[in-house]
Amino acid sequence: MKFFIDTANLEEIKEAYELGVLDGVTTNPSLMAKEGISGEDKVRNHYKAICDIVDDKVSAEVIATDFDGMIREGKALAKIDDKIVVKIPMIKDGIKAIKYFSSEGIRTNCTLVFSAGQAILAAKAGASYLSPFIGRLDDIAFDGLDLIAQIVHIYQNYGFETEVLAASVRHTMHLVKCAELGADVVTCPLKVITGLLNHPLTDKGLAQFLADHAKANK
Ligand code: G3P
Repeated sequence: MKFFIDTANLEEIKEAYELGVLDGVTTNPSLMAKEGISGEDKVRNHYKAICDIVDDKVSAEVIATDFDGMIREGKALAKIDDKIVVKIPMIKDGIKAIKYFSSEGIRTNCTLVFSAGQAILAAKAGASYLSPFIGRLDDIAFDGLDLIAQIVHIYQNYGFETEVLAASVRHTMHLVKCAELGADVVTCPLKVITGLLNHPLTDKGLAQFLADHAKANK
């Protein structure tokens, strides 16, 4: 299972990268706005700065919602760095754009996915990654994890190469359940990744080991 961090914050990306378990980064327009990044040049420089931290796969989202605009923006984003994956929303022109980028060898991440039908369309169009938003489904009393299970099953049935990238992952159990269900990737905030470290018996056990060692070495 691959771990992507879902943030545009450079410090958090560095911290996750230094842990040695990071496989990529996802961003979205809200996360970029949260960091105060606006304007074409600043946006480009920020994506470049992210690419310079990690080894591969940085999702950068288009803002346009029409085919021509998405192609123009996506091409410009892909030129920033080979690590860029162009993030495209699950809309009609988005599917056309994914098909176009797929034929051009440019990787895409289809975002804002909330149903198995959308997942089938994106895979047919040749998306490299599919981002079902599990937390946002949970927010409205639909089980986001059920959707992950359904999509993993469908993709296995047909050998679709699109990777299931579970997004809107809010807590460690989301991540663990996604692993059980066979999601290829999870993207989540830093606190979800570091949250996996925590267990009171680990803390208790370590304290005991250190105390025993100290006693024996007085
Ligand atoms: O980047 C897309 C997704 O991960 C957003 O998560 O928590 O805003 O629903 P959230």
